[in-house]
Amino acid sequence: MLETIATAYPYNKEAIIIICEEIINVRFSDDEAAVVILDQTLLPNEAKYLKLCEPEKLCEAIISLRVRGAPAIGIFAAFALYVYAQKLNCDCFESFSSEVTHFSTQLNSARPTAVNLSKQLHRILRLVSSLRASTIPSIKEAMRQEALQIQQEDVLMCKAISEHGQTLIESGFGIMTHCNAGPLATSQYGTALGPILLAHSRGLALSVYCCETRPLLQGARLTSYELYRAGVDVTLICDNMASIVMSEGKIDAIFVGCDRVAINGDTANKIGTSGLSVLAAHYGIPFYVCCPSSTIDPDCLTGKDIEIEQRSPEEIKEMFFAEPVALAGVKCYNPSFDVTDNNLITAIITEHGICRQPYSQSLKIMCNEDIR
Ligand code: MRU
Repeated sequence: MLETIATAYPYNKEAIIIICEEIINVRFSDDEAAVVILDQTLLPNEAKYLKLCEPEKLCEAIISLRVRGAPAIGIFAAFALYVYAQKLNCDCFESFSSEVTHFSTQLNSARPTAVNLSKQLHRILRLVSSLRASTIPSIKEAMRQEALQIQQEDVLMCKAISEHGQTLIESGFGIMTHCNAGPLATSQYGTALGPILLAHSRGLALSVYCCETRPLLQGARLTSYELYRAGVDVTLICDNMASIVMSEGKIDAIFVGCDRVAINGDTANKIGTSGLSVLAAHYGIPFYVCCPSSTIDPDCLTGKDIEIEQRSPEEIKEMFFAEPVALAGVKCYNPSFDVTDNNLITAIITEHGICRQPYSQSLKIMCNEDIR
């Protein structure tokens, strides 16, 4: 497998091995009765794989961010739905379809902001409906194939995004990124990290500044881990250091991932992303959003239509600290994502190419097939 990927995509051998070790973050167990994931909550200190088959544990893995990143949760949900369906003992289509739909609704409610979760679940449900006249075993087999297909498509999309994005990077660049949009968040390669890893593998000298990404520290725990292990010169900063780093002239471009794109080009990504875009405009730094076209939501006219996930106060006050850092009664506000205004985005990089303003036209022209 390593050979095939390495030949198809010219990362240097060292980097490809490291990346491939990490990318097996969603797969079927050998007997296909469970989904196996790399538990991202334990990184970077422990690389532990979990074998999940019970419905509650499959949902919990998404809620707790054991599996995370917009494309990865879409892939995981498709795998999870098959694992659930495989165990059903229904003898008629109606009861099979109703059970699968019920579990799909549970999975879908686990995280609201990333569109990939609902899109991939709907894709599997549409397939099930279209096979009403088939036998239950053949529907199950079709679900399995479709889940693998979704994963394979994501590999190709990330690969193409990496190629397009890499054309925007020059040797000597300082790059800033936020949260984690690397191989761990996708099937392979990553979206925002894809162009960086590719540029590095082609010998471009880069220094990457990675924001720690409070409160769950995906930048510190996952992005610096992926970049460091791939041999990229990476420097970790606290989120509130982004402005000084930009003002010191260390940053030539910002690359971030995305959880949902409205058709006017507003994009939702990890909390703190929109602040970086405002700073980038102030300092005259290009701000690039990388995402597969499956992240574009035709039902969202603007960013105001994007639901922002609210998470527990415990993540701000207690997680990652030996003792609580604020009194128990102190209120917390913990939105997990924010929306970057399309006017602050220099380009949106999809697998089809680099889209620029006006996004309502460029996204439509470039990604029309996928948007529909
Ligand atoms: O809460 P998370 O860790 O799932 O948030 C992830 C992000 O915000 C990523 O940037 C986004 O999902 C794109 S991943 C290719």
